[in-house]
Amino acid sequence: MSNCFPKVTLSPVWPQFTPLTIKYARGIYLYDEKGRTYLDMTSGIGVTNTGHCHPRVVKAIQNQAEKLIHGQVTIIRHDPIYQLADELSRILPPTLQSYFFTNSGSEAVESAIKLARHATGKTNIICFQGGYHGRTVGAMSVTTAKTVYRMHYQPLMPGVYVAPFPHSYDEMDACLDAFKLLLATQTAPEETAAIIVEPVLGEGGYVIPPREFFSNIKEITTNHNILFIFDEIQTGFGRTGHLFAYEHFDVVPDVLIMAKGLGSGLPISGIAASHELMSRWLPGSHGGTYGGNPVACAAAVETIRIINEENLLKNAKEMGQRLLEGLQQIAKGSTLFKEVRGLGLMIGCEVEGRTPQEKKERAAQIRLHCLNKGLILLTCGTYDHVIRWIPPLTVQPNEIDVALTVFAEAIKEVDCRHA
Ligand SMILES: Cc1ncc(COP(=O)(O)O)c(C=O)c1O
Repeated sequence: MSNCFPKVTLSPVWPQFTPLTIKYARGIYLYDEKGRTYLDMTSGIGVTNTGHCHPRVVKAIQNQAEKLIHGQVTIIRHDPIYQLADELSRILPPTLQSYFFTNSGSEAVESAIKLARHATGKTNIICFQGGYHGRTVGAMSVTTAKTVYRMHYQPLMPGVYVAPFPHSYDEMDACLDAFKLLLATQTAPEETAAIIVEPVLGEGGYVIPPREFFSNIKEITTNHNILFIFDEIQTGFGRTGHLFAYEHFDVVPDVLIMAKGLGSGLPISGIAASHELMSRWLPGSHGGTYGGNPVACAAAVETIRIINEENLLKNAKEMGQRLLEGLQQIAKGSTLFKEVRGLGLMIGCEVEGRTPQEKKERAAQIRLHCLNKGLILLTCGTYDHVIRWIPPLTVQPNEIDVALTVFAEAIKEVDCRHA
């Protein structure tokens, strides 16, 4: 690993999926210190939806940094936070018109849980098997994608119950029955504040539930005065081809959690809910020093405008289709894959194997081969056995085609080794 600061040590709690030290980035490309160029199909884990260093985002950050860098929101207010609320109010429905901002996805998840508990006076939260919601204690407590996120941190927040998540249409009825049984046997509706769910499992392996699942769950939660929280931290801001993934499922959540793609790389996150729900949150009972930072808000305002003005949803749909079809074609000619699935530009290739370890090793071999050829990919899934594709929404056909060629070579190579 190259490091021009040999005496510097960073905590090993951060694993390193690549040995790269990057000097600068533009669009989908990363440029390292040795002058090599990489095609980045990770977007920094689904963050740089407008591409790295989009010139309009850079300009918005520069302009705002010259005016006001910090303005604690309980002391002063500023234009960017109002502009951001205004932009969000244009793209979200009438029941999601009040906003609270914070810095990371996990903090936004904590905020949603705290709002739910505070506003309902109830304690319990239902989450779904395979979900990932972050690293802080509340967020970890509703995370069940892998034990590594929870191990040696337990006991976690009490009052959390886990419901099964359907991986296919065939599993839906059983999952709905299990959800109802949970309310009848473990956490009564009278003490259940909310359910929290990712519309598409992210870290859990890019799993898309059947279309009707969430409308069925919403009917139950509405009947029982339980809040429906959608964690759109990874799926939001165009990732799945719609601005928000809830649009695929014909439901509107009571609380929407957003982060990642919102700020094009600046740390900003937030929750949206109705005025009525937010008005039940006692002033001063939640907050933070940096939430609603002016520079981050300015980046977010510009990000939303770019997604709209540059037609990035249309591009995400078209390029998502091209990538999905290309990957499915490659998978067809190989024994390595169980399934290739995706929504928009959130695509996973699930690797097959006799044991979890074998699946993991195969996925790692494919990833490494691609990295050596200049293509950066990540994995997800309980056993790190799903190769995930999350390019920027600005990705172009030629970039997809180059990536597919490299991927196809990697598959051939790994196929041969296992033949
Ligand atoms: C769906 C989802 N929720 C929550 C988080 C946590 O966000 P952060 O890492 O910004 O705390 C993530 C991060 O990957 C995520 O994908």
